[in-house]
Amino acid sequence: EKGGYPHFMLKEIHEQPKAFKDTMAGRILPEKGEIKLDDVHLSKEYLQGIKKIFIVACGTAYHAGMVGKYVIEKLTRVPVEVDIASEFRYRDPMIDKNTLVIIISQSGETADTLAALRESKKLGARVLAITNVVGSSVSREADDIIYTWAGPEIAVASTKAYSTQLIALDFIALYIARTLGRICEKDFQEITSAMKNLPDQAKIILGHEDKIKSLAQKFFDREDVFYIGRGLDYPLSLEGALKLKEISYIHAEAYAAGELKHGTLALIEEGVPVIAPVTQEHLFEKTLSNIKEVKAREGFVVALANEGNEEIKKSVDDVIYIPKTHPILTPILAVIPMQLLAYYAAVARGCDVDKPRNLAKSVTVE
Ligand code: F6R
Repeated sequence: EKGGYPHFMLKEIHEQPKAFKDTMAGRILPEKGEIKLDDVHLSKEYLQGIKKIFIVACGTAYHAGMVGKYVIEKLTRVPVEVDIASEFRYRDPMIDKNTLVIIISQSGETADTLAALRESKKLGARVLAITNVVGSSVSREADDIIYTWAGPEIAVASTKAYSTQLIALDFIALYIARTLGRICEKDFQEITSAMKNLPDQAKIILGHEDKIKSLAQKFFDREDVFYIGRGLDYPLSLEGALKLKEISYIHAEAYAAGELKHGTLALIEEGVPVIAPVTQEHLFEKTLSNIKEVKAREGFVVALANEGNEEIKKSVDDVIYIPKTHPILTPILAVIPMQLLAYYAAVARGCDVDKPRNLAKSVTVE
Protein backbone atom coordinates (compact mmCIF):
# COMPACT_ATOMS: atom_id res chain seq x y z
CA GLU A 1 0.00 0.00 0.00
CA LYS A 2 2.98 2.31 0.49
CA GLY A 3 4.14 1.45 -3.02
CA GLY A 4 7.60 0.41 -1.85
CA TYR A 5 8.18 3.58 0.17
CA PRO A 6 8.99 3.30 3.89
CA HIS A 7 6.33 5.89 4.77
CA PHE A 8 3.17 7.32 3.28
CA MET A 9 4.64 10.78 3.62
CA LEU A 10 7.55 9.95 1.31
CA LYS A 11 5.20 8.26 -1.13
CA GLU A 12 2.95 11.31 -1.14
CA ILE A 13 5.88 13.68 -1.63
CA HIS A 14 6.84 11.62 -4.66
CA GLU A 15 3.31 11.65 -5.99
CA GLN A 16 3.44 15.41 -6.50
CA PRO A 17 4.36 15.39 -10.20
CA LYS A 18 1.27 13.29 -10.89
CA ALA A 19 -0.89 15.27 -8.47
CA PHE A 20 0.11 18.50 -10.25
CA LYS A 21 -0.75 17.00 -13.62
CA ASP A 22 -4.12 15.69 -12.42
CA THR A 23 -5.01 18.99 -10.74
CA MET A 24 -4.27 20.92 -13.93
CA ALA A 25 -5.79 18.45 -16.40
CA GLY A 26 -8.40 20.07 -18.65
CA ARG A 27 -8.40 23.32 -16.72
CA ILE A 28 -6.09 25.43 -18.86
CA LEU A 29 -7.50 26.40 -22.24
CA PRO A 30 -4.61 28.25 -23.89
CA GLU A 31 -6.34 28.83 -27.23
CA LYS A 32 -9.21 30.62 -25.49
CA GLY A 33 -6.98 32.22 -22.86
CA GLU A 34 -9.27 30.78 -20.21
CA ILE A 35 -9.24 28.75 -17.05
CA LYS A 36 -12.01 26.19 -17.03
CA LEU A 37 -13.33 25.29 -13.61
CA ASP A 38 -16.37 23.04 -13.85
CA ASP A 39 -17.86 23.71 -10.45
CA VAL A 40 -17.07 27.42 -10.26
CA HIS A 41 -19.70 29.83 -11.51
CA LEU A 42 -18.59 33.37 -10.71
CA SER A 43 -20.05 35.73 -13.28
CA LYS A 44 -18.47 38.96 -14.39
CA GLU A 45 -21.33 40.92 -12.79
CA TYR A 46 -20.83 39.13 -9.49
CA LEU A 47 -17.06 39.59 -9.49
CA GLN A 48 -17.42 43.28 -10.36
CA GLY A 49 -19.39 43.73 -7.17
CA ILE A 50 -16.82 42.00 -4.95
CA LYS A 51 -15.11 44.39 -2.52
CA LYS A 52 -12.95 41.87 -0.74
CA ILE A 53 -11.90 38.25 -0.74
CA PHE A 54 -11.41 36.33 2.49
CA ILE A 55 -9.38 33.13 2.59
CA VAL A 56 -10.05 30.96 5.63
CA ALA A 57 -8.36 27.69 6.65
CA CYS A 58 -6.30 25.90 9.33
CA GLY A 59 -2.67 24.79 9.53
CA THR A 60 -1.02 23.95 6.27
CA ALA A 61 -4.11 24.99 4.32
CA TYR A 62 -3.82 28.40 6.02
CA HIS A 63 -0.26 28.68 4.72
CA ALA A 64 -1.58 27.93 1.24
CA GLY A 65 -4.04 30.77 1.82
CA MET A 66 -1.19 33.16 2.60
CA VAL A 67 0.39 32.32 -0.74
CA GLY A 68 -3.04 32.74 -2.33
CA LYS A 69 -3.33 36.26 -0.94
CA TYR A 70 -0.11 37.36 -2.64
CA VAL A 71 -1.08 35.79 -5.95
CA ILE A 72 -4.74 36.86 -6.06
CA GLU A 73 -3.95 40.44 -5.07
CA LYS A 74 -1.14 40.62 -7.60
CA LEU A 75 -3.19 39.34 -10.52
CA THR A 76 -6.66 40.71 -9.73
CA ARG A 77 -6.02 43.82 -7.56
CA VAL A 78 -8.91 42.75 -5.34
CA PRO A 79 -7.94 43.05 -1.64
CA VAL A 80 -7.56 39.70 0.10
CA GLU A 81 -7.57 38.94 3.79
CA VAL A 82 -6.39 35.57 5.12
CA ASP A 83 -7.55 34.21 8.42
CA ILE A 84 -7.21 31.16 10.61
CA ALA A 85 -10.63 29.49 10.80
CA SER A 86 -10.64 29.32 14.61
CA GLU A 87 -10.01 33.08 14.76
CA PHE A 88 -12.29 34.12 11.93
CA ARG A 89 -15.38 32.39 13.30
CA TYR A 90 -15.20 34.08 16.69
CA ARG A 91 -14.28 37.59 15.67
CA ASP A 92 -17.46 38.85 14.09
CA PRO A 93 -15.85 39.00 10.63
CA MET A 94 -16.69 41.94 8.40
CA ILE A 95 -18.21 40.13 5.47
CA ASP A 96 -21.42 40.44 3.49
CA LYS A 97 -22.78 39.63 0.05
CA ASN A 98 -19.97 41.62 -1.54
CA THR A 99 -17.34 39.32 -0.06
CA LEU A 100 -16.12 36.14 -1.67
CA VAL A 101 -14.95 33.64 0.95
CA ILE A 102 -12.46 31.00 -0.14
CA ILE A 103 -12.33 28.00 2.20
CA ILE A 104 -9.36 25.64 1.93
CA SER A 105 -9.49 22.17 3.46
CA GLN A 106 -7.82 18.96 2.32
CA SER A 107 -10.23 16.74 4.24
CA GLY A 108 -13.24 19.03 3.92
CA GLU A 109 -14.15 18.04 7.47
CA THR A 110 -12.11 20.31 9.75
CA ALA A 111 -14.54 21.54 12.42
CA ASP A 112 -13.37 25.17 12.61
CA THR A 113 -13.12 25.48 8.84
CA LEU A 114 -16.60 24.11 8.36
CA ALA A 115 -17.92 26.48 11.01
CA ALA A 116 -16.24 29.39 9.19
CA LEU A 117 -17.93 28.29 5.96
CA ARG A 118 -21.35 28.24 7.65
CA GLU A 119 -20.77 31.59 9.35
CA SER A 120 -19.80 33.13 6.00
CA LYS A 121 -22.93 31.85 4.30
CA LYS A 122 -25.07 33.07 7.16
CA LEU A 123 -23.62 36.54 6.66
CA GLY A 124 -24.55 36.42 2.98
CA ALA A 125 -21.15 35.74 1.43
CA ARG A 126 -20.61 33.36 -1.43
CA VAL A 127 -18.27 30.49 -0.56
CA LEU A 128 -15.77 28.92 -2.92
CA ALA A 129 -14.10 25.80 -1.50
CA ILE A 130 -10.82 24.15 -2.35
CA THR A 131 -10.88 20.56 -1.12
CA ASN A 132 -9.36 17.19 -1.88
CA VAL A 133 -12.30 15.05 -0.86
CA VAL A 134 -15.32 14.64 -3.11
CA GLY A 135 -18.49 14.46 -1.05
CA SER A 136 -16.88 16.01 2.05
CA SER A 137 -18.95 18.37 4.20
CA VAL A 138 -17.12 21.38 2.80
CA SER A 139 -17.75 20.27 -0.78
CA ARG A 140 -21.43 19.73 -0.08
CA GLU A 141 -22.00 23.09 1.58
CA ALA A 142 -19.91 25.42 -0.59
CA ASP A 143 -21.43 27.37 -3.49
CA ASP A 144 -18.47 26.73 -5.78
CA ILE A 145 -15.79 24.04 -5.61
CA ILE A 146 -12.34 23.39 -6.96
CA TYR A 147 -11.10 19.89 -6.26
CA THR A 148 -7.41 19.29 -5.83
CA TRP A 149 -6.94 15.98 -7.59
CA ALA A 150 -4.10 14.95 -5.29
CA GLY A 151 -5.50 11.51 -4.48
CA PRO A 152 -5.91 10.26 -0.91
CA GLU A 153 -3.48 11.73 1.57
CA ILE A 154 -2.78 9.30 4.41
CA ALA A 155 0.23 10.78 6.22
CA VAL A 156 -0.80 13.27 8.90
CA ALA A 157 1.62 15.86 7.51
CA SER A 158 0.09 17.41 4.43
CA THR A 159 2.32 17.50 1.35
CA LYS A 160 0.69 16.91 -2.04
CA ALA A 161 -2.57 18.41 -0.82
CA TYR A 162 -0.74 21.64 0.02
CA SER A 163 1.08 22.01 -3.29
CA THR A 164 -2.09 21.28 -5.26
CA GLN A 165 -3.98 23.82 -3.14
CA LEU A 166 -1.46 26.36 -4.44
CA ILE A 167 -2.26 25.33 -8.01
CA ALA A 168 -5.98 25.71 -7.30
CA LEU A 169 -5.39 29.20 -5.87
CA ASP A 170 -3.41 30.18 -8.97
CA PHE A 171 -6.36 29.02 -11.05
CA ILE A 172 -8.75 31.15 -8.99
CA ALA A 173 -6.46 34.17 -9.41
CA LEU A 174 -6.22 33.65 -13.17
CA TYR A 175 -9.96 32.99 -13.49
CA ILE A 176 -10.92 36.18 -11.64
CA ALA A 177 -8.24 38.27 -13.36
CA ARG A 178 -9.38 37.02 -16.76
CA THR A 179 -13.07 37.52 -16.03
CA LEU A 180 -12.44 41.08 -14.84
CA GLY A 181 -10.05 41.79 -17.71
CA ARG A 182 -7.17 42.57 -15.37
CA ILE A 183 -4.55 40.31 -16.92
CA CYS A 184 -3.26 40.64 -20.45
CA GLU A 185 -3.06 37.74 -22.85
CA LYS A 186 0.74 37.68 -22.68
CA ASP A 187 0.92 37.36 -18.88
CA PHE A 188 -1.84 34.75 -18.91
CA GLN A 189 0.05 32.64 -21.44
CA GLU A 190 3.32 33.09 -19.58
CA ILE A 191 1.89 31.87 -16.29
CA THR A 192 -0.15 29.00 -17.70
CA SER A 193 2.69 27.68 -19.84
CA ALA A 194 4.98 27.82 -16.80
CA MET A 195 2.34 25.86 -14.87
CA LYS A 196 2.47 23.08 -17.44
CA ASN A 197 6.17 22.59 -16.72
CA LEU A 198 5.62 22.12 -12.98
CA PRO A 199 5.21 18.30 -13.02
CA ASP A 200 8.53 17.77 -14.81
CA GLN A 201 10.25 20.37 -12.67
CA ALA A 202 8.97 18.65 -9.52
CA LYS A 203 10.59 15.45 -10.80
CA ILE A 204 13.90 17.26 -11.15
CA ILE A 205 13.72 18.37 -7.52
CA LEU A 206 12.90 14.84 -6.40
CA GLY A 207 16.06 13.80 -8.24
CA HIS A 208 18.05 15.86 -5.70
CA GLU A 209 16.66 13.84 -2.82
CA ASP A 210 20.01 12.42 -1.67
CA LYS A 211 21.51 15.85 -1.33
CA ILE A 212 18.52 17.11 0.66
CA LYS A 213 18.72 14.03 2.88
CA SER A 214 22.38 14.66 3.66
CA LEU A 215 21.59 18.29 4.55
CA ALA A 216 18.84 17.14 6.93
CA GLN A 217 21.35 14.82 8.54
CA LYS A 218 23.54 17.83 9.28
CA PHE A 219 20.98 19.48 11.56
CA PHE A 220 18.62 16.73 12.76
CA ASP A 221 20.13 16.72 16.26
CA ARG A 222 19.64 20.45 16.85
CA GLU A 223 16.96 21.79 19.15
CA ASP A 224 15.98 24.85 17.14
CA VAL A 225 15.80 25.63 13.45
CA PHE A 226 14.84 28.98 11.97
CA TYR A 227 13.33 29.73 8.58
CA ILE A 228 13.49 33.18 7.03
CA GLY A 229 12.02 34.49 3.79
CA ARG A 230 10.48 37.52 2.13
CA GLY A 231 7.44 37.87 -0.10
CA LEU A 232 6.23 34.44 -1.21
CA ASP A 233 9.22 32.93 0.58
CA TYR A 234 7.66 33.97 3.89
CA PRO A 235 4.58 31.67 3.79
CA LEU A 236 6.89 29.04 2.31
CA SER A 237 9.07 29.41 5.41
CA LEU A 238 6.06 29.07 7.70
CA GLU A 239 5.10 25.87 5.93
CA GLY A 240 8.67 24.51 6.06
CA ALA A 241 8.82 25.18 9.81
CA LEU A 242 5.43 23.59 10.45
CA LYS A 243 6.43 20.44 8.54
CA LEU A 244 9.67 20.15 10.51
CA LYS A 245 8.15 20.67 13.94
CA GLU A 246 5.14 18.41 13.50
CA ILE A 247 7.06 15.32 12.40
CA SER A 248 10.55 15.72 13.90
CA TYR A 249 9.56 17.59 17.10
CA ILE A 250 12.45 20.01 16.52
CA HIS A 251 11.44 23.50 17.58
CA ALA A 252 11.16 25.39 14.31
CA GLU A 253 10.13 28.99 13.75
CA ALA A 254 9.66 31.04 10.64
CA TYR A 255 10.09 34.78 10.31
CA ALA A 256 9.66 37.32 7.60
CA ALA A 257 13.36 37.92 6.94
CA GLY A 258 13.02 41.65 7.61
CA GLU A 259 11.77 40.86 11.12
CA LEU A 260 15.00 39.16 12.08
CA LYS A 261 16.61 42.18 13.59
CA HIS A 262 13.46 42.98 15.54
CA GLY A 263 14.14 40.15 17.95
CA THR A 264 15.05 36.74 16.60
CA LEU A 265 18.60 37.62 15.70
CA ALA A 266 19.32 37.38 19.44
CA LEU A 267 18.85 33.61 19.15
CA ILE A 268 21.38 33.10 16.38
CA GLU A 269 24.71 31.76 17.53
CA GLU A 270 27.34 29.41 16.22
CA GLY A 271 25.88 26.46 14.32
CA VAL A 272 22.18 27.40 14.63
CA PRO A 273 20.53 26.14 11.43
CA VAL A 274 18.71 28.73 9.33
CA ILE A 275 16.83 27.73 6.20
CA ALA A 276 16.61 30.69 3.86
CA PRO A 277 14.59 30.52 0.64
CA VAL A 278 15.57 33.24 -1.85
CA THR A 279 13.35 32.43 -4.80
CA GLN A 280 11.96 35.95 -5.26
CA GLU A 281 14.55 37.69 -7.36
CA HIS A 282 13.24 41.23 -6.78
CA LEU A 283 13.81 40.68 -3.04
CA PHE A 284 17.11 38.85 -3.30
CA GLU A 285 19.43 41.64 -2.17
CA LYS A 286 17.26 42.33 0.87
CA THR A 287 17.18 38.72 2.05
CA LEU A 288 20.86 38.35 1.25
CA SER A 289 21.63 41.11 3.72
CA ASN A 290 19.64 39.22 6.39
CA ILE A 291 21.56 36.05 5.56
CA LYS A 292 24.81 37.94 6.01
CA GLU A 293 23.63 39.04 9.45
CA VAL A 294 23.07 35.39 10.35
CA LYS A 295 26.46 34.37 8.96
CA ALA A 296 28.18 37.13 10.91
CA ARG A 297 26.93 35.30 14.03
CA GLU A 298 28.12 31.97 12.64
CA GLY A 299 24.72 30.45 11.98
CA PHE A 300 24.55 27.48 9.61
CA VAL A 301 22.64 28.70 6.56
CA VAL A 302 21.06 26.52 3.89
CA ALA A 303 19.58 28.59 1.06
CA LEU A 304 16.91 27.52 -1.37
CA ALA A 305 17.50 29.32 -4.64
CA ASN A 306 16.56 29.37 -8.30
CA GLU A 307 18.82 27.50 -10.68
CA GLY A 308 21.43 29.90 -11.99
CA ASN A 309 21.77 31.94 -8.80
CA GLU A 310 25.51 31.53 -8.28
CA GLU A 311 25.90 34.60 -6.11
CA ILE A 312 24.14 33.04 -3.15
CA LYS A 313 26.83 30.37 -2.86
CA LYS A 314 29.33 32.92 -1.54
CA SER A 315 27.23 33.77 1.49
CA VAL A 316 25.81 30.46 2.73
CA ASP A 317 26.92 27.01 3.85
CA ASP A 318 24.92 25.15 1.24
CA VAL A 319 22.30 25.70 -1.46
CA ILE A 320 19.38 23.62 -2.69
CA TYR A 321 18.45 24.64 -6.22
CA ILE A 322 14.99 24.56 -7.76
CA PRO A 323 14.30 24.87 -11.50
CA LYS A 324 13.26 28.31 -12.71
CA THR A 325 9.58 29.02 -13.05
CA HIS A 326 7.33 32.07 -13.04
CA PRO A 327 7.95 33.96 -9.74
CA ILE A 328 4.36 33.48 -8.50
CA LEU A 329 4.68 29.70 -8.95
CA THR A 330 7.95 29.16 -7.04
CA PRO A 331 6.29 28.08 -3.75
CA ILE A 332 4.80 25.06 -5.55
CA LEU A 333 8.29 23.79 -6.33
CA ALA A 334 10.18 25.18 -3.37
CA VAL A 335 7.96 23.44 -0.83
CA ILE A 336 9.21 20.04 -2.06
CA PRO A 337 12.73 20.42 -0.59
CA MET A 338 11.11 21.78 2.59
CA GLN A 339 9.02 18.60 2.86
CA LEU A 340 12.05 16.38 2.23
CA LEU A 341 14.18 18.24 4.78
CA ALA A 342 11.48 17.71 7.41
CA TYR A 343 10.99 14.09 6.40
CA TYR A 344 14.66 13.14 6.58
CA ALA A 345 15.24 15.04 9.83
CA ALA A 346 12.33 13.11 11.36
CA VAL A 347 13.61 9.78 10.03
CA ALA A 348 17.10 10.53 11.40
CA ARG A 349 15.51 11.14 14.82
CA GLY A 350 13.60 7.86 14.66
CA CYS A 351 10.18 9.53 14.73
CA ASP A 352 6.91 7.95 13.68
CA VAL A 353 6.73 10.07 10.53
CA ASP A 354 3.23 9.18 9.34
CA LYS A 355 1.62 9.44 12.76
CA PRO A 356 3.22 12.19 14.77
CA ARG A 357 2.37 12.22 18.46
CA ASN A 358 -0.78 14.08 19.56
CA LEU A 359 -1.94 14.82 16.01
CA ALA A 360 -4.85 13.52 13.93
CA LYS A 361 -5.24 13.66 10.17
CA SER A 362 -8.64 15.25 10.31
CA VAL A 363 -9.48 17.62 13.17
CA THR A 364 -13.22 17.20 13.44
CA VAL A 365 -13.42 18.44 17.02
CA GLU A 366 -12.76 21.99 18.16
C1 F6R B 1 -0.11 19.89 8.71
C2 F6R B 1 -1.51 19.57 8.48
C3 F6R B 1 -2.55 20.35 9.16
C4 F6R B 1 -3.79 20.53 8.26
C5 F6R B 1 -4.93 21.19 9.02
C6 F6R B 1 -6.13 21.45 8.14
O1 F6R B 1 0.75 19.14 7.92
O2 F6R B 1 -1.79 18.66 7.73
O3 F6R B 1 -2.09 21.58 9.59
O4 F6R B 1 -3.42 21.29 7.16
O5 F6R B 1 -5.32 20.37 10.10
O6 F6R B 1 -6.65 20.28 7.61
P1 F6R B 1 -7.64 20.31 6.39
O7 F6R B 1 -6.92 20.83 5.22
O8 F6R B 1 -8.09 18.88 6.21
O9 F6R B 1 -8.79 21.21 6.78
